[in-house]
Amino acid sequence: MWRGVIDQYREFLPVTERTPVITLHEGNTPLIRADRLREAHENRIELFLKCEGANPTGSFKDRGMTMALSKALEEGAAAVICASTGNTSASAAAYAARAGCRAIVVVPRGQVAVGKLSQAIMHGAMLIQLEGNFDKALEIVKGVSEKFQVAWVNSVNPFRIEGQKTAAFEICNQLEGSPDFVFIPVGNAGNISAYWKGFQEYRRAGRVSRLPRMMGWQAEGAAPLSLGRVVEHPETVASAIRIGNPASWKLALAAIEESQGEIGVVSDAEILSAYRQVAQVEGIYCEPASAAAVAGLIKCSREGKIPPGARVVCILTGHGLKDPETAITLAPPLHVVEANLDAAAQAMGLG
Ligand code: F0G
Repeated sequence: MWRGVIDQYREFLPVTERTPVITLHEGNTPLIRADRLREAHENRIELFLKCEGANPTGSFKDRGMTMALSKALEEGAAAVICASTGNTSASAAAYAARAGCRAIVVVPRGQVAVGKLSQAIMHGAMLIQLEGNFDKALEIVKGVSEKFQVAWVNSVNPFRIEGQKTAAFEICNQLEGSPDFVFIPVGNAGNISAYWKGFQEYRRAGRVSRLPRMMGWQAEGAAPLSLGRVVEHPETVASAIRIGNPASWKLALAAIEESQGEIGVVSDAEILSAYRQVAQVEGIYCEPASAAAVAGLIKCSREGKIPPGARVVCILTGHGLKDPETAITLAPPLHVVEANLDAAAQAMGLG
């Protein structure tokens, strides 16, 4: 039986037999070949989608949260705290519930997708809605964790990165080798750093012989890394990555430089177009932030940056059901018909 990432990758993680393992059996997510999406863009690459929405709370955060909560408990913490654009709070709330530990989550008011809010509420976290954006929430949470006895479980917590790096191991195992390119959305910049750490450790351990290029993608209105400066008022439809001052800024730039990768920018229109394509061409429903990675790939392919035959993985970081409201804004005119066969058939274009 799969028992989660700590059990599976214990030799690569800072845990001992005394560490209580708090797990929801996260990880082991599908890596799906995406030939129809590839063909739609006349690419001669091998394209795979890593479906992190298949984690227990619907995002990649669970890989890091199993580590963060296990270590917090080992160290005797009675409460955990995080700032979040939504997914971190959902995951922290769920793992804290499982650990019997208090969770306090601080989110920007009115800027979190409804599915994510519902998770924090259902798992019994204390939900603080801040009159301010994510960056402000992060600053406040940092201050609270320094002043009071609460464990900070944002991705500045090194145990989060340790857990999240396991996704890189999994991709290498699933492909039986390293990919050539990894396309990944960037918000607070922890995940791209975690993946790079994972790929490097797997190579050092002799499990793979090469390293991929890390291709990070931000939304146009929230692109501090590519602008090279803090964005005071970040704005994008992809609320998960609506971040103007990422905590792991330096680590992310190092990952990109060391891997000879790139940090790029896509518009909201490109994000929404990729979001719809992945759902309609491959049957995979991801959230808008995840689609930023696919939009980035489409852009790079158009610019001829990806050599034929390259093995490419896009990280679909979260499940589409997290944010049904954005999906519904894209709905075509809805058919409402009288309850009889002829009217229905006519509406179906069959009558
Ligand atoms: N994709 C999704 C679905 C996310 O929720 C996040 C971050 C990212 C990508 C970016 O990852 O921050 O490691 O660069 N969400 C955080 C949160 C900020 O609070 O849930 P990152």
